[in-house]
Amino acid sequence: MPLSQAAKDRVVNDYFPRYPTKRAALMPALWLAQDELGWLSVETMEEIAELLEMDPTDVESVASFYVMFNRRPVGRKLIEVCENPSCWVNGASQTLERICHKLGLDPHAGHAGATTPDGEYTVRPTECVAACDYAPAVQVNWRYYGPVKPDDVDAFLENMERFNLERDGLVSAFGTHEQRFKDGSAWRVDPAENGAPPPPPPPPPAESKPEEKK
Ligand code: FES
Repeated sequence: MPLSQAAKDRVVNDYFPRYPTKRAALMPALWLAQDELGWLSVETMEEIAELLEMDPTDVESVASFYVMFNRRPVGRKLIEVCENPSCWVNGASQTLERICHKLGLDPHAGHAGATTPDGEYTVRPTECVAACDYAPAVQVNWRYYGPVKPDDVDAFLENMERFNLERDGLVSAFGTHEQRFKDGSAWRVDPAENGAPPPPPPPPPAESKPEEKK
């Protein structure tokens, strides 16, 4: 499915003015496309490349570098288990394996993840989600849950809300990516801090003509 005209207009009208170059708007443009379409197909990345006047392989390089960009369709519930050190030493790999086992999925599918045939769940490992003090931390559709120890997996799948860290204010809500754009704080870049050349100096005031001698 192609990117909507509304999304393209938003990139041009809202995002481009915030950045010194069009290509600097790549990350928010990818988020916007993923929010709209659910994942980033090759065609979507080509559309973004055209919009940002970039080579499609450069767009794909960025999208494939960050684990949070979906390069294949994901289920309605995207379960991501952090496997970085704090979570790993607290049993994250076993948590991931047990979740996959319960849902009949391959625990070794890597960052691409594995999806149930009914499209309800995708499960994948992820990198640190900044909830290390609630290890093993899990994200479901970008919301924080934890700790989800291996023995907690049955209870977690039965009632995720019990493990929701945002519910009791233990961690602040990540929110949607759209909220990050609306307040402008997450992605706004000062061109002067981004290696852009300084703006040209203002033109000198027009010289006043010397008074003619009588
Ligand atoms: S190491 Fe898992 S949340 Fe930081």
